[in-house]
This record gives sequence, structure tokens and C-alpha cells, in this order.
Amino acid sequence: MKVFSGSSHPDLARGIATHMGMPLGKLKVTRFSNENIKVKVEENVRESDVFVIQTSCPPVSDNLLELLILIDALKFASAARITAVLPYFPYARSDKKDEARISITARLVADLLETAGADRVLTMTLHAPQILGFFRKPADQLLATPILTNYFKTKDLSNAVVVATDAGAAKFAGHFAKRLSVPMAIIDKRRFDDSEKAQSVALIGDAKGKDAIIYDDEIATGGSIKEAARILREFGARTVRVGVTHPVLSGNALETLTSANLDELVVTDSIPISPERAKALPNLRVLS
Ligand code: R5P
Repeated sequence: MKVFSGSSHPDLARGIATHMGMPLGKLKVTRFSNENIKVKVEENVRESDVFVIQTSCPPVSDNLLELLILIDALKFASAARITAVLPYFPYARSDKKDEARISITARLVADLLETAGADRVLTMTLHAPQILGFFRKPADQLLATPILTNYFKTKDLSNAVVVATDAGAAKFAGHFAKRLSVPMAIIDKRRFDDSEKAQSVALIGDAKGKDAIIYDDEIATGGSIKEAARILREFGARTVRVGVTHPVLSGNALETLTSANLDELVVTDSIPISPERAKALPNLRVLS
């Protein structure tokens, strides 16, 4: 078995390789002045069971293309089986035809991975699990819920409530609440136009005097979390903490989250956060 890392998140790949007690495979990625990418696998992978780790983070499309080229290089170096490991799946939110004449890019990504030569795909906490159905080859998702559960179990949960940021997050928030043995509530979140800005309009459930733990799959601009925190405080929550798998942190997320008055922001390391950005986020905790 061999493990290779793309350029997106070498720390995570090193951590995984160390956990498995093996070195990372050697390869060289060259980016030419014309922006073309060349990959050279610098060790023998003939008949090997190979894992390639590449998460989706900026530059998203460039990292995706690098992964496809990496898989292609491994395939043509006669690897026996290639598993593409994508902790955060690229274009995960483009998963359905909810408007006329739009692309379903998550499906296209699935097609591209298979065309490049991936025999199997492993990802983590998908925005919508149906994305696994875009693959004809075996595809699995791991859930970050056990890691988040273990962390929050170290806290006082006697007065806690898990809060889903919207109806879509309710199912997984429900699993999380069950694991923590606490009740749950759901926020009625709406997007009123085509902009990314979300608004929390109501709370279904009880937050008065509670220690709220907001659960979601990802933080993009931070708007959903800020709105959720606002409505929870409005409904009398005593503390507001957040447990989220993917810290996408796009746009003005740092400013938005800083002004959200969170008691704790817990995320996983599925996406890298630079030390400068981490420093700018008060009460941040990154779980491995
Ligand atoms: C949406 O359906 C997702 O579960 C997240 O709530 C969303 O991606 C968060 O986006 P933002 O941080 O931009 O509000």
C-alpha cells in the first residue's frame, strides 16, 4: 500500500501517513509558466494499492486538476488500485438541477475522477450524501460526527441543545444530538435572493437558558452560523458553540465569524487554515 499527497493539504496527508505508520510516496509536481501542471511519480507503484489525498481548497479548480493528473500518472505507472481521498469534495454544493440550464458540477467531478482512473473514492461528510450516487465505482463517505462527539462529550452537556442551521442539516444534527444524548432544535433558514446571504427567520425548538451547539457540514461565508447565533441569542441561549466539519471560510468569513460572538468554534482539519487566519478567529479549535 502507498499513500501520496497532492499540494492542497500536505499536513493532513502527512498526519494520515504517520497514523498508518508509512512514509508519504515520492512525487514531483511542476507548474510551468503557462500554468500547465506536470506530475512525476518518483517511486515504483507497479501493482500497488495506492491512496491519493487531495482536499478541495483554493485554488479549487487547480487542485482538482492536479488530482486528476496525479491519478492519471499513477494509472500509467501501473498502480493496481487507486483510491482518491477527497476530505472535502470539490463542487459539493453543485449537486442538483434546482434551476433551469445549470451545471451539476459534483456529478461532472465524479465522472472526471473515474475517467482519470480512480477505482474508488473516499470522502468525508458530504453536503448531500446523494453525491455518492454519481459514481459507478465504489464511493464512500466517512463522517466527522464521532470526532465532534468525542470532543463535545468532554464538555458539560447537562443543559445543551444541538441546533441544525437549517432543515437540510437536521438529519445529521439529529444523529449528533443522539450521540450526545441531548435534545435538538432546527433553524428555519432562508435565502431570499440569488446572493449567498442566508437569514434565520425562526427557531423550531427550545433555546432559552440553553448551551447551544450549532451543527453544520460546512462554514463557507459564515453567514449561516452568524445568523444562527443571532437567533439563538434572541431566543435566550446562554452560550453558543459551533461544531462543523469543513472550514471552507470563503469570502468575508473571518470578519463574519469574528462578529458572531461565538463561545467556541470547533472544526476539523479537512481543509487547511493558515496560522494567520486561525489567529484571527477567536475561540477556534481544530480537531484532527
Ligand atoms: C448549506 O446548505 C450548508 O449546509 C451550509 O449551511 C452552508 O454551506 C453554509 O454557507 P455559509 O457559511 O455561506 O452561510
